[in-house]
Amino acid sequence: MAALTPATGAQHAAILGLGSYRPSRVIPNAEVVEAIDSSDEWIQQRSGIKQRRWATPEETVQMMSVAAARTALERAGVDARQIDCVIVATVTHMFQTPAVATAIAHELGTDQAAAFDISAACAGFCHGVALASDLVRGGSAGYALVIGVERLSDITDIGDRGTAFIFADGAGAVVVGPSETPGIGPVVWGSDGEQFDLIRQREDWRDVVASERPEMPHLVMQGNAVFRWASYQMAKTGQQALDRAGVSIDDLDVFVPHQANMRITDAMARAMKLPERVKIARDIAEQGNTSAASIPLALDRMIEEGDAKSGDTALLIAFGAGLAYAAQVVTVP
Ligand code: UT7
Repeated sequence: MAALTPATGAQHAAILGLGSYRPSRVIPNAEVVEAIDSSDEWIQQRSGIKQRRWATPEETVQMMSVAAARTALERAGVDARQIDCVIVATVTHMFQTPAVATAIAHELGTDQAAAFDISAACAGFCHGVALASDLVRGGSAGYALVIGVERLSDITDIGDRGTAFIFADGAGAVVVGPSETPGIGPVVWGSDGEQFDLIRQREDWRDVVASERPEMPHLVMQGNAVFRWASYQMAKTGQQALDRAGVSIDDLDVFVPHQANMRITDAMARAMKLPERVKIARDIAEQGNTSAASIPLALDRMIEEGDAKSGDTALLIAFGAGLAYAAQVVTVP
């Protein structure tokens, strides 16, 4: 049996740069409630959302991804040709194949980087960061790019009062590369497929095509069941991520949960007994729920507004359809 040369990578990995892209159309609650029996007051009280961003036709998944990635690369001081792998977390690239990551890698000018999409819905960004960290430490990539991007407005039924006011569009990206100290803690992740039906595409594409009046199979969600699961289970996942990273709650500076609902964020913060001084991401108020893009968008806003700074210790928790979840502690780039 031949002895194979093992892959060897960097001792540690970290997020080296972060970028995001917010679509230009701002949609206030007043506009959303034109199509549903609801009110600005109800939406703000139950979700914390005041307005959201929906993409214009020109703001495609690829366009928003490239814009966010270019900013991340520039801030990381990394050239696109140094990127060995592009991972795109999305559920709104409208081709079953090929992956949009390949087109993004090409447009950015990588040197034919490995490129693939992952489907872990709202948990996709944290899945991507975990994969990228392992690729860099395992020797499969010198630098990896992780993008979370969605155009949920394409698959949201604007007449469905259970989802129309929540979902939104945008992109966020990070460059993951070698580091002298650990900048990405161990991931705590998992899934509960018994709850597969709680958030999903309404029907299978084959049923859409076979129907007499084919229309976009929109997202459907049993919101309250997801709300209860996330509020109770995700605080435990966050605590496990802190424990696995060897970080106590007193070392934490920043909390960036998936921007699903402001009340879920508050419930998690209470359950984890976060000290008052820990800054909490609240991007959902202005941006809506952008699924795989929500964590990098929220962290970028915190950096812009001075609520997070380079070197801070941040806890990321992502959760959504599947039900899938992932959490890790990272150092803010
Ligand atoms: O990103 C992926 C993960 N997704 C999530 O984490 C989403 C989690 N879920 C949620 O954010 C919340 O469940 C929602 C914001 C979607 C809904 O809030 P809720 O507090 O769970 O509302 P509910 O579905 O329990 O409904 C409460 C009441 C009902 O009326 P009654 O039966 O109490 O009279 C609903 O009919 O609110 C009513 N309702 C509405 N009223 C005005 C439901 N939707 C609306 C609406 N406007 N849009």
